Amino acid sequence: MTNGVIEISALVKDHVSPFLQKRVRVLDGLTLTVQQGQTFGLLGPNGAGKTTTIKLSLGLLKPTAGEVKVLDCPAGSKTALSRIGFLPENPYFYSYLTGWEFLDFFGQLFNLSTNQRKERAKELLEMVSLTDAAHKPIHKFSKGMLQRLGIAQCLINEPDVLFLDEPNSGLDPIGRKDIRNILLKLKQAGKTIFLNSHLLPDVNELCDQIGVLHKGKLIAGGKVASICPSGNYKDLEQFFFDVISSCDKQSQPKISSSS
Ligand SMILES: Nc1ncnc2c1ncn2[C@@H]1O[C@H](COP(=O)(O)OP(=O)(O)OP(=O)(O)O)[C@@H](O)[C@H]1O
Ligand SMILES: [Mg+2]
Repeated sequence: MTNGVIEISALVKDHVSPFLQKRVRVLDGLTLTVQQGQTFGLLGPNGAGKTTTIKLSLGLLKPTAGEVKVLDCPAGSKTALSRIGFLPENPYFYSYLTGWEFLDFFGQLFNLSTNQRKERAKELLEMVSLTDAAHKPIHKFSKGMLQRLGIAQCLINEPDVLFLDEPNSGLDPIGRKDIRNILLKLKQAGKTIFLNSHLLPDVNELCDQIGVLHKGKLIAGGKVASICPSGNYKDLEQFFFDVISSCDKQSQPKISSSS
């Protein structure tokens, strides 16, 4: 088998709480591979370590142990970053810029020429259905429009690999559907996608493979098609509840009934 596009090996991340001066293990030996063209969904309760995994994959954080490679390059290396698109969990938008100006700014960061930036911005605004709003200041955008602009921004450098941290959270059903459709197009275009999400029906529709992270450990995962509906579960929600509650039961201290 060829190397995966994203290779996470025995990844450990500790944070030191400045208040308690205590070391907290946020990721505990995470290993996973995402193959070329796959859409991988990382699921897990709040605080499980999903965003930390993405930050380590981008080189925004340094691991305590283990490593991440993207496209065979160390996480955070220039070569890797030039081929990655990233939508953060809470993207920041310069609200006085228009959508067009915002994309133009990111195009400059990637050293695109004026003509390339014009072409790219036009194409991307069309792709995320923001052509009509191209020259509106961003502070007039709805949350759905902002998320779509965020996706356009992360595609400015024509990346091969996308890291998307909850791209569909906080949106109404129409906004969620818009994002789903954009992601389906990107998947069809052959992008490798690493998606953090709590929205299990969307994950079901988009992802080929999932992993469930709980308290920093990968406790379950596999091909979506083999989990539901052809597997033992009605849907991903049932699977998610089941694996989390079995894991919690196993880690509870056993109290003897006679004590
Ligand atoms: N800079 C930091 N310093 C200390 N602890 C941190 C830091 N960043 C994250 N953590 C802790 O690491 C844990 C994992 O956080 P992370 O943001 O990766 O979770 P998550 O799975 O993305 O959660 P959510 O679903 O809420 O987005 C949490 O307990 C969080 O409080
Ligand atoms: Mg997060």
